[in-house]
Amino acid sequence: MIYNGSVKRSPKPAGSPLKKQRDCKIDPTAKIMDFTNLYECEVGAGVFVGPFVEIQRGARVGPRTRISSHSFLCEGVTVGSDCFVGHGVMFTNDLYDVPLPNGAYNMKKTSVGNFVRIGSNATLLPVKVGDHAIIGAGAVVTKDVPAGAVVAGVPARVLRKRDLSKISQA
Ligand SMILES: CC(C)(COP(=O)(O)OP(=O)(O)OC[C@H]1O[C@@H](n2cnc3c(N)ncnc32)[C@H](O)[C@@H]1OP(=O)(O)O)[C@@H](O)C(=O)NCCC(=O)NCCS
Repeated sequence: MIYNGSVKRSPKPAGSPLKKQRDCKIDPTAKIMDFTNLYECEVGAGVFVGPFVEIQRGARVGPRTRISSHSFLCEGVTVGSDCFVGHGVMFTNDLYDVPLPNGAYNMKKTSVGNFVRIGSNATLLPVKVGDHAIIGAGAVVTKDVPAGAVVAGVPARVLRKRDLSKISQA
């Protein structure tokens, strides 16, 4: 069969039961795609959340940030404004995945500054990422990333520093 470019789409269900959202603060201007799972998180103005994204309790996404499909923002993650989070970006907050003797988990925090770009398939351990930093595709970020640094690799290392005096915005 030869694909002729025409696709018959079934009508979208009204109100989309495909978006799970429980107890979130979502700005009305944010665009959340179907097949997403958001609970007890905050999503700012103009944010885009692509399909197959999960955003957990307590996570915060700043204004105009774009979260591409298949990314996971766990509890303890804060992403600033005007950031780009690529496809399949994984955040972590529990280094060992075993509970403490009292049954609780030792959750760590990750903060991403403003105007940060995170390449596809990057994994961030609990770290701080400075404003205007760039994280390469497939990086495993194990240490804090200074503002304006470009990092890549496993584990991620600084490739170069951006000239912040020349950056007006991302
Ligand atoms: C990290 C990145 C920003 C670096 O770009 P750059 O500054 O132009 O760097 P260069 O292409 O000049 O590469 C510099 C070196 O880093 C290496 N490198 C580049 N990107 C890398 C990555 N993601 N992981 C590992 N090494 C990488 C290059 O091989 C090169 O190594 P060499 O000096 O030994 O030849 C870019 O390669 C990248 O990964 N961008 C993310 C793309 C992405 O995921 N976009 C999402 C939207 S689809």
